[in-house]
Amino acid sequence: MSEEGPNTKGAPLLVAAHMREIEAQVRVCKLCKLSRTRTNAVPGEGDYRAEVMFIGEGPGYHEDRQARPFVGNAGDFLNELLEIAGLSRPRVFITNVVKCRPPNNRDPEPDEIGACSGYLDRQIALINPRIIVTLGRFSMVRFFPGERISQIHGMARVIDGRMCVAMYHPAAGLHQASLADIIRSDFRKLPLFIEQARKMLAPAVQTDEGQPAADDTEVKSLVTGEPLKTSDTAEAEVLVQAQAPEAAQKRGKREKSESDYKQLNFFDL
Ligand code: URA
Ligand code: SF4
Repeated sequence: MSEEGPNTKGAPLLVAAHMREIEAQVRVCKLCKLSRTRTNAVPGEGDYRAEVMFIGEGPGYHEDRQARPFVGNAGDFLNELLEIAGLSRPRVFITNVVKCRPPNNRDPEPDEIGACSGYLDRQIALINPRIIVTLGRFSMVRFFPGERISQIHGMARVIDGRMCVAMYHPAAGLHQASLADIIRSDFRKLPLFIEQARKMLAPAVQTDEGQPAADDTEVKSLVTGEPLKTSDTAEAEVLVQAQAPEAAQKRGKREKSESDYKQLNFFDL
């Protein structure tokens, strides 16, 4: 899939070391029952300094075989979507809510998601992406609890200083042709979200050295799996939407309370 391969070279040493440590822990993890049926755990891959992180649901057949995320049909579509958004795999980081394949591709269960969440927490904190893109329901609920994907796909909200964008899962586009174009047009907006995130979330400047690394104590607590201090208030600060004004208006007319979307036209696009 990724001809160039993941780019892990430029990351701050501590971050790279701890990311590799997490990956090693995931590969031998037995924290939930998915460990008994997997062939390979799939920790995730990409740039440890990525500005944009994609979070899917869980490995499928091919991912389980190859120990890499999104390498099957959904992966092919994701690659197309990344291209639409002007991104490439080596520049982003891609992982999943659960790192091991649920048998027969069933939905991951709450105990499995719970058991696995510490790895994702630590990956997010270490990479410190400015933008998180959720792919499908299971990663969406983590950032947009109580929302419905059909209502908020292609929309973003700033949470804990990151812009979180909810997208349909690429596999949904494979199963339902009518969704494929919707997903494509949602991804077409991603550069606008990225641009906006760079402006809005300015202090976290992306320097030549990459994103500012977590400090040593923070990194240490991440690796030991202690709870993070920063992420317990996953409170929405603002809802934003990057799309043509008429479309924004149309969507704004949904039954959502007006205050929810007061800041809908945050982007002047
Ligand atoms: N679907 C996912 O959610 N993740 C993968 O890695 C592959 C398919
Ligand atoms: Fe461990 Fe996550 Fe795999 Fe469960 S899904 S065994 S918690 S790595």
